[in-house]
Amino acid sequence: MGKKIGIYGGTFDPPHLGHMRAARETAARLKLDEILLVPARLPPHKQLPEDAGTPEQRLEMIGYIADALSLDLPCRVLDLELKRQGPSYTVDTLRELRRAHPDDELWLLMGTDMFLSFQDWREPEQIAELAHLCAFGRHDADKGAILSRQRERLQALYPHAEIRALTLRSLVDVSSTDLRHRLREGEGGGGLWPPVYGYILRNRLYGTAADMKRLELPELRAVSQSMIKAKRIAHVLGTEEEAVRLAKRWGAEELPARRAAILHDCTKYYTAAEQLQLCEKYGIVLDTLERELVKLQHALTAAALAEHVFGEPPEVCRAIRWHTTGRADMSLLEKIIYMADYIEPNRDFDGVEGLRELAYRDLDAAILAGLEMTVEEMNERGLPVHGKTLEAVAFLRGV
Ligand SMILES: [Fe+2]
Ligand SMILES: [Fe+2]
Repeated sequence: MGKKIGIYGGTFDPPHLGHMRAARETAARLKLDEILLVPARLPPHKQLPEDAGTPEQRLEMIGYIADALSLDLPCRVLDLELKRQGPSYTVDTLRELRRAHPDDELWLLMGTDMFLSFQDWREPEQIAELAHLCAFGRHDADKGAILSRQRERLQALYPHAEIRALTLRSLVDVSSTDLRHRLREGEGGGGLWPPVYGYILRNRLYGTAADMKRLELPELRAVSQSMIKAKRIAHVLGTEEEAVRLAKRWGAEELPARRAAILHDCTKYYTAAEQLQLCEKYGIVLDTLERELVKLQHALTAAALAEHVFGEPPEVCRAIRWHTTGRADMSLLEKIIYMADYIEPNRDFDGVEGLRELAYRDLDAAILAGLEMTVEEMNERGLPVHGKTLEAVAFLRGV
């Protein structure tokens, strides 16, 4: 049996939480096996605003949405409309997709506005033959009635079409036009998936002009999340949450703990080439083991970005610098970030409960236990242990 594939097109300029939730809930309701997001090149039905993102930027932004959605079900971005010359018509896209998926069930997903003008699209009858149609609107009596009236109308026009009209509870009332306006006014990224907001800030899209060295917490979170994969976001948020708890328990300042936690893994997904490029740019000297193990490099490069790009103070940068290996005689903030990274709520390994309990009773003992677990694990896997980790162990043991 073929797969059920949802096809969701739009200008996505920028893509927002409304798009994301619509895709997620529609997929659940239709029991889709896969979602394809299709950013449009030149929408035939509307003029692009002057400050529109470039096709490449829209492609990158929608990529964040696809990354997040694919935690639940396969989701891909298709750039076939962006690559096509001239205006892009849905019917052409569907013909291509039909060829690529001869045995699959295609569902064209669309919001209320698109659905209401469906009969005016290019070759609507063809579209309805190539794919089933699914319109979605907000969950209120008004929208429900409008959608079902249009559904009946289209069903009469195209008797063989399969047409669904859903009202979605999770749909939020945002529009890309409003969002662009609010971004230009510096009103923040509510309504945007944070990594998309972070991407917009980093690239100064839509008239934003954030100073990277003076980001408030929501913006710092967004920018950091725009640098990592969706699956790591929960870990970074968890590390921040744990760092704040530990800071309160051990009398450290909350804000530096938050900022260090937010940035600690921001270069985790940089490629080996990108890591080396940053090392060169910021004069980072790697030791033999660090050169060999790319995994160790992100602590150094994230610390460098924290200093040079985000303007963080030395104590914050050092906490990021030492979060992976630890070192002898760590500062309180360094200990907090090391530990928070180790025991944050999403961590799930044998002994994590005991380590959590210990961290709030005797921080040094917990750090030592954590370091020893790391050494043991590396030994078991036949991997070398970093000298700084061994020094930290020796220091805490008092030898
Ligand atoms: Fe890390
Ligand atoms: Fe981490």
